[in-house]
Amino acid sequence: MRLLLTVAALQLALVAFMAQSPTEGQPVSFVKEVQPLINVLCVSCHAGGRPAAGLSLETYAGLALGNRKAKGLVPGKPNDSLIYMTLNEIGGVKKMPPRRIAQPTAKEIELIQRWIEQGAKDDTPPKPDK
Ligand code: HEC
Repeated sequence: MRLLLTVAALQLALVAFMAQSPTEGQPVSFVKEVQPLINVLCVSCHAGGRPAAGLSLETYAGLALGNRKAKGLVPGKPNDSLIYMTLNEIGGVKKMPPRRIAQPTAKEIELIQRWIEQGAKDDTPPKPDK
């Protein structure tokens, strides 16, 4: 009986572990997850010929650029990355998106955090040759 209980407890622990791991461990895709989010949250202002604050956020290169306050993306360090700092108003960087408009959810901010923690990798596929 005791052994059965132990086995049951282990199984429960395993189920709990597996239920958790998709959000914890799975690699975040720039193209499939981060870029669509940035497109919704930021690109209405940060794109085109005269992007807000001179920051065009349409591409990975644009996100990585940054400004005089911080680099856009520091792999492994969200708190040093302008794109994450601005979401959380860290280090004297202005809060983005501006408060008067729709804000990202905690989950969406966490997605960007994890992506940077995982190395802020660019998985944009190469452009096909013409
Ligand atoms: C409604 C338009 C708008 C949206 C949407 C928007 N921004 Fe901005 N952003 C601005 C403007 C305007 C500025 C110039 C600073 C100011 O005067 O507020 C700015 C400034 C910035 C800066 C410079 C801040 C600093 O203190 O150096 C960063 C970084 C930035 N935006 C990133 C983002 C990111 C990332 C998003 C999406 C999560 C975003 N912005 C969404 C309009 C916008």
